[in-house]
Amino acid sequence: MHTAERLKKIPPYLFVTLRNKINEARRQGVDVIDLGVGDPVNPTPDAVIDALAESARDPQNHRYPTDEEWGMLSFREAVARWYKRRHDVDLDPKGEIIALIGSKEGCHHFALGVVNPGDLVLVTDPGYPGYKPSIWFAGGEPYPVPMKPENAYLPNLAEIPSDIARKASAFYLNYPNNPTGAVATPTFLSELVEFAKSNGIAICYDNPYSELVFGVEPLSFLKAEGAKEVGVELNSLSKTFNMTGWRIGMASGNRDIIGAIAKVKSNTDSGVFNAIQYAGIAALDTCDGFTAKMLEIYGRRRETVLATLRELGWTYDPPKGTFYLWIPVPNGYNSAEFCALLFEKCAVVAAPGAAYGQNGEGFVRFSLTITEDRLEEAMRRMRTNLQRFAFD
Ligand SMILES: Cc1ncc(COP(=O)(O)O)c(C=O)c1O
Repeated sequence: MHTAERLKKIPPYLFVTLRNKINEARRQGVDVIDLGVGDPVNPTPDAVIDALAESARDPQNHRYPTDEEWGMLSFREAVARWYKRRHDVDLDPKGEIIALIGSKEGCHHFALGVVNPGDLVLVTDPGYPGYKPSIWFAGGEPYPVPMKPENAYLPNLAEIPSDIARKASAFYLNYPNNPTGAVATPTFLSELVEFAKSNGIAICYDNPYSELVFGVEPLSFLKAEGAKEVGVELNSLSKTFNMTGWRIGMASGNRDIIGAIAKVKSNTDSGVFNAIQYAGIAALDTCDGFTAKMLEIYGRRRETVLATLRELGWTYDPPKGTFYLWIPVPNGYNSAEFCALLFEKCAVVAAPGAAYGQNGEGFVRFSLTITEDRLEEAMRRMRTNLQRFAFD
């Protein structure tokens, strides 16, 4: 059977490749520790599970979701309350918010709603591996915008060639950033709004790690003046409330873009199961304390890894956001080679930086989403099986 030409451009999804490798090694009896994927092992809060169980018993919720592609008004109102409380952002639940089946779905449907075939679309490099395929599916062409450590992993907007900026129809960004852990600043967000305005660019600000910050305030793109004129923010309950498997998130901001996403969704899926939206309301309304507790846990896990890295020769400052560490590889290795060394000597899986774009080369990403005892075991193996490394 033939398959579509467009799929030929799209490499296998990074974490599917890693998962296959891990499963194969486990079948052969290797005790693999996975620091690759960012998928919290800690459970979803009880209040959320209780809300799901109760709502799942109501036959009203067994039908197609209420307001289908938009999500239930009560869910959208909970999103508005959450944005007001957490970010001091005002949103109209009728037109400025739509429920998503996770932020990844939003990335995809943003492209289908905004990008025309042949359009250039700016995307940070390194960047989340989901963006480029979404752009290709819409017929657009990604244009990589470098994020460099010397600019705190923020794109230098002034260095984007002006003909490219004028031609581009959209820009995907994400802070707190996967993979680097960098955070944005209010000044950068204001510059981004100005850049988007003067070049007619629609912003897709993907913010699923908004609450996972260390020593700085959570920041929403929508807080920047004029943000709603130029873009939308995607957010998600996946990382904030340990709900990756539940598939629920939201897009908020510019009415035209939200309307475009709604049109795509109404012709593609039929929305999020009502019972999951009720559970989402419980998360958004009652679980701020849970997020604070998870931040303490991630803080302790960071210390566990940092202690081992120091012992092995790294001098490394952890980033201010996310549950990832973006670690420079030692002299003599590229990111794939260093991941291979970790796998061979320690049965530890890390994500190679090069898989996030050419500017990701020279780094590997560790995810801190496994249990403390497994993380400690991974670090013990590294201390035992690797020697001290040299760095430039
Ligand atoms: C930057 C970024 N965007 C989107 C997603 C997808 O999140 P969700 O589970 O909400 O689809 C992830 C998941 O790792 C991510 O890192």
